[in-house]
Amino acid sequence: MRLIKGPRGFALFLSLLAVTTFFTPSSWGDSATGLKAWLPQQKQTAWALLLNNISPSLPKYPGGPQAKRGIVVAALSTQDPDYYFHWIRDSSLIMSTVVNVYASSWKTLHPSELESLMGDYLTLSAELQNVSSTAGMGEPRFNIDGSVDTLPWSRPQFDGPALRAISVLKYLRWSERNSRRAHRALALEVVQKDLGFVLKTWDQQGYDIWEEIRADHYHTHLVQLAALEEGLAYFSQHHQQIKWQADCLSAIKKIKIALQKHWDGQQGFVRSQLNFVAPVTKNTVLDSAVIVAVMDAERSGHANSVLDPEIQSTVSVLGDYFRAHYAINQAADLGLAYGRYPGDVYVGGNPWYLITADFANFYYTLALRLKTDGGIRKASFSCRFLKELLSTPPCKDEKSFVKLDVGSRHSLFSALVLKADGILSRIKNHTPNDGQLSEQFDQVTGLPRSANGLTWSYAAFLEAALARERLKPWL
Ligand code: NOJ
Ligand code: NOJ
Repeated sequence: MRLIKGPRGFALFLSLLAVTTFFTPSSWGDSATGLKAWLPQQKQTAWALLLNNISPSLPKYPGGPQAKRGIVVAALSTQDPDYYFHWIRDSSLIMSTVVNVYASSWKTLHPSELESLMGDYLTLSAELQNVSSTAGMGEPRFNIDGSVDTLPWSRPQFDGPALRAISVLKYLRWSERNSRRAHRALALEVVQKDLGFVLKTWDQQGYDIWEEIRADHYHTHLVQLAALEEGLAYFSQHHQQIKWQADCLSAIKKIKIALQKHWDGQQGFVRSQLNFVAPVTKNTVLDSAVIVAVMDAERSGHANSVLDPEIQSTVSVLGDYFRAHYAINQAADLGLAYGRYPGDVYVGGNPWYLITADFANFYYTLALRLKTDGGIRKASFSCRFLKELLSTPPCKDEKSFVKLDVGSRHSLFSALVLKADGILSRIKNHTPNDGQLSEQFDQVTGLPRSANGLTWSYAAFLEAALARERLKPWL
């Protein structure tokens, strides 16, 4: 662990002290029972460790340049793998979680802290949007001094600007609700530039979320769709003249059509990629990136959200694969551990903390929609998905989609919460006593693997914990 100075360092010290004091060694290898006691504690730790990776205090190597304010390193790890960079994708998702945390009922946080974090992030983002590089705004990552990363890498990647627009729009909404106007002008500037870029490039093929293949990606398209929809809604509500309104509407329509093509009714899952360009290293289109996309896009409609039966079916197919494939998933008293895709070899192709947390978040969020979605009576559910949750689903066969009556929706709610709790217990089981979350955990031993302290792992864990908190009125 690096030494951190200042108030943040002190907060980290306090929470780590709390962890070491209250955590018994037996919590490693525990079953689901201690989840409720562990969650608040791990939430504090994850938050402190996440903040520690924003504007980090140490240079990459002794004597190297300092990090600019607003830099969010993907992890503190500087070798094997070297994640001491600012990825546009990771940093946008992390800042979105930061806004979500401040918008939650976590009362001890002061809004001025969010303003200061966002001020740094927006200033940096405006600068990075204008840095010249071969991939333009499709540049996936930057050095910590804000300069372009010139190492060979998978470029361009088009999800970053869309994800940044989503998180900055979320901040704009928050700033209004809280009458905090300090960075609004800058935020609007950053969003408009990102949306303009999305409009120009959405039909181009870039590399995927895992930085491996050039193709048409479900994940990239879905976050682009969410960014455009949310941007359009925001600017329309504010009666702002947007000269790109017509382009936006037309792109939204086309992206929705493109997304529909990913469904494979025969196999019962939404395909992560279509139209591969290069390189064809991957021979599957079954990929958790589809579920990560749904959680990142946070869409409120039914299609391409947790209420989409095609997505629910995909959740089941992925679950079946990882249940059969990972040795640790043979422990039936815990929920499943989820990884990226069949045949993944990156640092062992193990389960990932962030993906596992996203699946827990999926089940919690669906549970919430059952209680709060006005159109829930009209929603269809995947039978393949229901089969794992209800003892007598009203289904003819696995492939069908059905509507549910009030009683079944009630049973489904409880089953979803149980399922998500099991998945979080899985994460608990593989979290070391100091609360650090790496990128992966070993599929056989369950021990942490790959980059230590992955910022995105903390963010995804916090999102799942917040999703569980939103259910409190019904638990
Ligand atoms: C680094 C990427 O970020 C990771 O996702 C990928 O699997 C490896 N490179 C191998 O291409
Ligand atoms: C590898 C992941 O595949 C990619 O999505 C991520 O951006 C980088 N690691 C940094 O966390």
